[in-house]
Amino acid sequence: MMQPLNPIAVELNELMKNLSPVVYSLFSDLGKRIYLPKGILRQSAEVQEKADSLNATRAIAIKDNQLMSLDVLRQLIPDLSVESAFAYPPILGNTELRTLWQAHIRKENPLLENIEFNLPVVTSGMTQGFSILADLFVNSGDKLILPDMIWGNYRLLFETKMGAEVSTYTFFNTVKKFNIDGFKRTLLEHTDEKLLILLNFPHNPTGYSITETEASEIVESIVDCADCGCNILVMVDDAYAGFWYDSEVMHESIFSKLVGCHPNVVPVKIDGATKEEYAWGLRVGFLTFAFKDQVMSGIEEKLSGIIRTNTSGAAQLSQSIILKAMKSSNYEEEKRKNYEILKTRAEKAKLIATNKKYAGLWEVYPSHAGYFICLNLRLSNAEKVRQALLHEYGIGTISLGERDLRIAYSCLEEDEIEEVISAIAQIVQSHKIEYSVNL
Ligand SMILES: Cc1ncc(COP(=O)(O)O)c(C=O)c1O
Repeated sequence: MMQPLNPIAVELNELMKNLSPVVYSLFSDLGKRIYLPKGILRQSAEVQEKADSLNATRAIAIKDNQLMSLDVLRQLIPDLSVESAFAYPPILGNTELRTLWQAHIRKENPLLENIEFNLPVVTSGMTQGFSILADLFVNSGDKLILPDMIWGNYRLLFETKMGAEVSTYTFFNTVKKFNIDGFKRTLLEHTDEKLLILLNFPHNPTGYSITETEASEIVESIVDCADCGCNILVMVDDAYAGFWYDSEVMHESIFSKLVGCHPNVVPVKIDGATKEEYAWGLRVGFLTFAFKDQVMSGIEEKLSGIIRTNTSGAAQLSQSIILKAMKSSNYEEEKRKNYEILKTRAEKAKLIATNKKYAGLWEVYPSHAGYFICLNLRLSNAEKVRQALLHEYGIGTISLGERDLRIAYSCLEEDEIEEVISAIAQIVQSHKIEYSVNL
């Protein structure tokens, strides 16, 4: 039986219905039910404003007006204050970090320069960002459009865990460009009032990225679909934002072009320190909607309720480390150096893998950005090649589907790339018959 909604949720829903019927209609059942309880949080906030002598509200420990701490922990983090290492962070994240990340997004996405939008919300890595979006927006049976080549976690989360119905289009067309016709067709097949779309450029697993024209075509298709009365949540996975190596592709997120494209389209950018700041395990991600003011306050309250029920906030220490690093004078320079290293590897991987001598063995999917290059093996089963590569050469790759083999050149030194690619060629050639795919 459906529980009655809490009065705070009812009030918030009414507000959202008035402020943005589109966002309200995209909310999942949980999204409609969730709210941030006022109890303890409100009582603590009141005390901060009014109590001038003793504060016995918070579930923390204080001594001599400071957080109590252990020297054995503090010594490990000498450059951070006890507060910035060990205090509870705000549910939606450290405000200074959110402000800095917003500035970072603006700088990297010039189309957003004069657009007012909310502060990004901090999540425990990008995966939690997706999970929060799934809670807020996805009901079992909702339609999600994904390409056939994807980061596998999307299916695990949206389909297996949340019960979304996934419709796929083939990522590449026959000339190995983004399959805009297939994308459009899949959109137009949907007659539901609500649609979820997930876009990811630079792309995992291929490293493909879109040109300005392709980006505009994608946005136009989404606008056409919205014109038919559909409300659309577009999730933009920008895990590899910034790692564009090729001048022919757009060096900006498609999120910028989606912002304000149609009143029925709600874009949300999911990005993070994970790859951009080379801080995979710190688990700092961000969710950015293109709203401001009251609509965003409503969404933030819903997000706070959801975050409160799982991690209760991303780790304070991780947020403080990223914040401090981003303010450091060496930050830009160090990032530039790493970028150059990855760019050199990307170019080398492409040059070697596309060598004519391998043309009979595989086709290389176009790769302009990110961490990966991906081979489409002509006659071999990718999983069998992967296993032989591992057992005979001790080389690890990822097999995807029947014939795709993903190489993360991001974790190979420049001079190791050739060895890996030539080992793949040797495996494919020496086991050609055994590994043939039934064509
Ligand atoms: C396309 C894509 N999105 C998201 C992520 C995950 O990000 P996080 O580690 O911050 O959860 C990855 C990680 O490999 C990825 O490839």
